[in-house]
Amino acid sequence: MKIAIGCDHGAFALKNKVIEHLEKQGHEVRDFGTYSTESCDYPDIAHDVAQAVEKENGTGILLCGTGIGMSMAANHHKGIRAALCTTELHAKFARRHNDANILCLGARMTGVELAKAIVEAFLTTGFEGGRHKRRIDKIPC
Ligand code: RB5
Repeated sequence: MKIAIGCDHGAFALKNKVIEHLEKQGHEVRDFGTYSTESCDYPDIAHDVAQAVEKENGTGILLCGTGIGMSMAANHHKGIRAALCTTELHAKFARRHNDANILCLGARMTGVELAKAIVEAFLTTGFEGGRHKRRIDKIPC
């Protein structure tokens, strides 16, 4: 799977762990930065990843300290359904019921092993469609 990924300074270390995990599994990862722990503004990264996901109708992962700022910024983009997940179950339902196309993680909230498990759940769960499609169609974007 092709995955666009990005983080701010607060999630730089976790992003690298997630990329390592994804590449080990054979995913093609496109990294939109940030590339160090130097302070940056999360919306800049969120916009780049959201645009890539929109354009390619693909899948993205955004990480910041809490995951909140990234999800807020990404959800302003047309066609983006970004879900902040703190458990594997959140990730499964974000896919099954909400057809989320960007997973948001909070590096100051979620440890590395749990983050990997959440990523796994997100990438391996499909959208159920049906009534859930009708509902997501009612979300303005
Ligand atoms: C950066 O300090 C922090 O505000 C950011 O990583 C994120 O948590 C915002 O939602």
